[in-house]
Amino acid sequence: KQTIRDLKLDGATVLVRVDFNVPQKADGAVADDRRIRSALPTLQYALDHGAALVLVSHLGRPTGKPEEDAKFRMDPVARRLEELIGRPVVKADDVVGPSAQAARANLKPGGIVMLENVRFHPGEKKGDPEFARQLASLADAYVNDAFGTCHRDEASMVAVPSAFPAERRAIGFLVEKELDILQTLLGEPKRPMLAIMGGAKVSDKIQVIENLLAKVDRLLIGGAMTYTFLQAKGHAIGTSRSEPDKLDLARMLMEKAGDKLMLPVDVRVTDSVSPPGTVQTIDGHDLPEGWGGIDIGPKTAAIYADLIKTAGTVVWNGPVGKFEDEPFRDGTLAIARALAESPAITVVGGGETAEAIEQFGLADKVTHVSTGGGAFLESLEGKTFNSLAIIPDLN
Ligand code: 3PG
Repeated sequence: KQTIRDLKLDGATVLVRVDFNVPQKADGAVADDRRIRSALPTLQYALDHGAALVLVSHLGRPTGKPEEDAKFRMDPVARRLEELIGRPVVKADDVVGPSAQAARANLKPGGIVMLENVRFHPGEKKGDPEFARQLASLADAYVNDAFGTCHRDEASMVAVPSAFPAERRAIGFLVEKELDILQTLLGEPKRPMLAIMGGAKVSDKIQVIENLLAKVDRLLIGGAMTYTFLQAKGHAIGTSRSEPDKLDLARMLMEKAGDKLMLPVDVRVTDSVSPPGTVQTIDGHDLPEGWGGIDIGPKTAAIYADLIKTAGTVVWNGPVGKFEDEPFRDGTLAIARALAESPAITVVGGGETAEAIEQFGLADKVTHVSTGGGAFLESLEGKTFNSLAIIPDLN
């Protein structure tokens, strides 16, 4: 792909589509700035090469009701960026209106404008070409560094880059890095390769599981989806969450996977999820009545950890237990620690899993934590994105 290195930056104004859709505190303040930090290399590079920047992002899912949408204004994000990049960031109060126009008119090389939440404009969702033209007219070139949004076909991802000549569209360093990592995972990974899949539903992960089964040597299952698999095998699952209408699907997957697919050999069960109740470990697969599975057990954690530490490549998506609550956290923590200690190429992705490894302070100890939630999952499913197809390949 054409990257920011291929653009003429000196004296140019560059529209950078970033994904600053960050977790927020109740008052709207930035709760986790990882996505902002991840875009800094691209922004810094453009500034160092004489460009001015117009940044555009969405934040949350605005409803169109002003009282509800106030918390999705980009101001706290712009302030955090200002702290991180150490330069003033001018925040515009609209996307393509008078405030954006005025900020653009005053912009000089080295300057940064952050536009208002692009989803405040109805043209964004609709992929409206007129809106796209107006947004594109604010700059001389376009850079997509919003990996987390690459699976969306909204205007700022597809119609806006289309409004620039092909030689003035590029990806930034974050998107480049994420694509490189995905290539490592889905191309010729160092073996053995294993995937750890957790999370609530088999149905959410079916395509990922199917696509990964063709690539991995082992697929380790954790999280609530475990109980759909156990139920499909005829076990008693107590009060565990499961998808009774997906049992055939689970059977089909297990048959296809053969012994590649590993289920926990023990599980942690509780008599109350919220508030967290008593927890006990059950060996094997039959759960007592009135108790529900909430985490993998210690034997499973040890088996999985050994496999992770001796693997060549590991990809992890989905917590293996309800890690947000201390009593149910041990399994997910054990997996995170094993990845951190493993010499393998270790990749963590999908919103919650990234959150877990951040929370444990181990994000810097793995090869890569993807900034993508849905975009990471869909990439693992083998999907390709219009937002990237629109960026020319290098000749
Ligand atoms: C994400 O957080 O996955 C991206 O920013 C996309 O957000 P969306 O799911 O609201 O489109």
